Amino acid sequence: ARTAAVIPAAGRGVRLGPGAPKALRPLSGTPMLVHAVRAMAGSRSVSLVVVVAPPDGADEVRRLLDAYPLSGSLTDTTEVVVVPGGETRQESVRKGLAAVPETVTTVLVHDAARPLVPVDTVDAVAAAVRDGSPAVVPALPLTDTVKRVEPRTGERAGEPEPVVGTPERALLRAVQTPQGFDRATLVAAHEKIALEGEGATDDAGMVERLGVEVVVVPGHEEAFKVTRPLDLVLAEAVLARRRA
Ligand code: CTP
Ligand code: MG
Repeated sequence: ARTAAVIPAAGRGVRLGPGAPKALRPLSGTPMLVHAVRAMAGSRSVSLVVVVAPPDGADEVRRLLDAYPLSGSLTDTTEVVVVPGGETRQESVRKGLAAVPETVTTVLVHDAARPLVPVDTVDAVAAAVRDGSPAVVPALPLTDTVKRVEPRTGERAGEPEPVVGTPERALLRAVQTPQGFDRATLVAAHEKIALEGEGATDDAGMVERLGVEVVVVPGHEEAFKVTRPLDLVLAEAVLARRRA
């Protein structure tokens, strides 16, 4: 019963602003991707990490990972493989999944853009899959109230958007990664979606379309996604607090 982690890291990071691909930007002097690999390798259950690099950047990412110690423990034997990614996150995950051997039963899919997820969260997701749930996502209650709006397009673009609904906040969850899956279930979800040619915004969403039950476990504030410039400020503050 092996567990592997696939880390999609092929995105550009458009919302973060101009610069290197997001996963390669430094946090406290160390590339975001290195933090993310360490977070996965730090979980004792994870024996293989597949990093999905920008399509033309696999060699650069391999060299970068070789330049940093990936684990705090010399006895840790986590293997790290690098493969090139694709145009969409979904395609990148599919390419990463193709590099996971069939001897692996549990697959975690973790955004490189969530470099600071605590190891306890990783362990909890992996344990829930091993205990029999085919799909597990870490999630937190929302703090903001959410509105559904009617987007204004064409002639009316830029006009204020009317609110058409307010989902009950207590029933909503913001989901994070790593999301954990029984390997065969995730592979089946990717095959089905590839046939349908449709997009999905997370991996669990694809499994839901198979009709397979997805469950949530508690997420963690520090598993937030580095998306916009302010998130870099928060990430640096979290790292400074850990050092203190
Ligand atoms: N990702 C990927 N392949 C893509 C697009 C995204 O592997 N073609 C990865 C990103 O590298 C990131 C994760 O998916 O680790 C979550 O995506 P997101 O936070 O949206 O990152 P980016 O797509 O890089 O950012 P943006 O959408 O602002 O460009
Ligand atoms: Mg994106």
